[in-house]
Amino acid sequence: MLISVTGFFRNAEAFDILKRKVFARLVQQRSDDPIRVWVLGCSTGQEAYSMAMVFAEASDKAQRPRKLQVFATDLNDALLDKARQGLYARNLTQEVTPERLRRFFVEEEGGYRVSKSLREMVVFARQNLINDPPFSRMDLISCRNLMIYLEPSLQRKAIPAFHYALKPDGFLFLGASESVGGFGDLFEPFDKSHRIYSRKAAPPRLFQLPIKGNPDRPAAVPPTRKPHASVSEAGHKTPEMFHAEVSPEREADRVAVSRFAPSGALISADLQVLQFRGATAAYLQHPTGKASLDILKMAREGLMLPLRATINKAKKEDRIARREGVRLRQGTRTRMTNIEVIPLRNLKEPCFLVVFEETGTRKLPVKVSELTDTRGETAGPAKEAARRIAELESELKETREYLQSVHERQEAANEELQASNEEVQSANEELQSVNEELETSKEELESANEELTTINEEMSSRNLELSRLNSDLVNIQTSARLAIVLLGRDLTIRRFSTQAEKQFNLLAADVGRASSHG
Ligand SMILES: C[S@@+](CC[C@H](N)C(=O)[O-])C[C@H]1O[C@@H](n2cnc3c(N)ncnc32)[C@H](O)[C@@H]1O
Repeated sequence: MLISVTGFFRNAEAFDILKRKVFARLVQQRSDDPIRVWVLGCSTGQEAYSMAMVFAEASDKAQRPRKLQVFATDLNDALLDKARQGLYARNLTQEVTPERLRRFFVEEEGGYRVSKSLREMVVFARQNLINDPPFSRMDLISCRNLMIYLEPSLQRKAIPAFHYALKPDGFLFLGASESVGGFGDLFEPFDKSHRIYSRKAAPPRLFQLPIKGNPDRPAAVPPTRKPHASVSEAGHKTPEMFHAEVSPEREADRVAVSRFAPSGALISADLQVLQFRGATAAYLQHPTGKASLDILKMAREGLMLPLRATINKAKKEDRIARREGVRLRQGTRTRMTNIEVIPLRNLKEPCFLVVFEETGTRKLPVKVSELTDTRGETAGPAKEAARRIAELESELKETREYLQSVHERQEAANEELQASNEEVQSANEELQSVNEELETSKEELESANEELTTINEEMSSRNLELSRLNSDLVNIQTSARLAIVLLGRDLTIRRFSTQAEKQFNLLAADVGRASSHG
């Protein structure tokens, strides 16, 4: 829907009632939470800023003024961009009183911009009433002149969603030609003529969120359910999104998985991390330099080689690959880790789940060199030294394998380069021979051109000669005063003198006619 007509204080009387009856009540409430207002279909922002203005005016007399947070949403990004700028043409004076203009706007070259304090009260975000889940815990929802453009079936689904999204004593503000329809059990008129409704404590009713969600899997929720804690409570400006209700078992699974499942990452076949799972900081870190999600580049010291080998094994054998007892250095300790790489099946693109299992931490063992005395005999626990040697050998083996694979890749790249080089060379040869052919044709053309020039010159001189002969002939005919008629072999008239013209009544049109013709 592309209709975006809007304005400040659209229906000024309704905004006045809103200020005197709704905001006056909300600002008096004793609460440290901000007043939360959701403006749906906010278009270029005038309605949201009007809300902020009436709130500010209603707060003037309040002893402990509350804060306001307006979530203004629309599905049209271009409109939202304009709204965010908050710059309006000068003709806004038709909708905004001089007093409000002075208090809430700053004059600029292109018009009037909303003041910083007003702008800070409003958060603009993209949200589609039909496809996206609604926000929640609102004190006031303003959905004006949007529902009239929706199909009646969607309108009927929107009202219960608003009921869900409001706090128990919240208000709903609709456009002049909109109403709550048959949902008298959810809302009651607060000011009927100005389409302000107050939320009723309704019996639980199942409805679908988002209102036009997947019909096969409707997220049916009772509206009386307590919404999730809001992210914005923590100070973020993002309004919290509604999470579809899940069964207690699924919620328990989710919590258990997030608390006790091993850390890891979901990666694509080309080793790019698609998702981090759990706390991965002990295993993965962001490399310095160009940003990269390549899991090998992110791997912490000591992890890269075994991780790479395990991923390669899982890829090659297309089954779970496991590597145990990988040591990761962390200060003076080592973290013992198992790595498991699980190929995920039945996906469009092949993906792998990399799981890290911590099996404990140990103090770093003393170096092998420190384990021998001056005579070269083993001074420390020989077992530890042997274990360390085995470990180093295994690391060395992996490094060799890694180097070998780097070498092979380089060889392959070299071969590819060589092949491309040969292709370029042969293309070059072809171009050169085509060029030579072109050169030859050019020379041929040039000589043909010269011949043509000579012929042309000859023709010009003959032409000149003929013109002269012709003019001589005409002169002789005229000066001789003889009646001369020149005939061709077929006895057709070719030319005649002026005397002959008069004598035989000839006309210019007779040239080419038979001389016997009357
Ligand atoms: C006629 S304007 C109304 C503007 C404002 N509410 C007012 O009354 O002045 C309708 C707005 O709703 C937006 N809109 C239309 N369908 C929407 C949807 N499904 N979800 C969110 N916004 C929508 C349009 O982009 C447009 O900006």
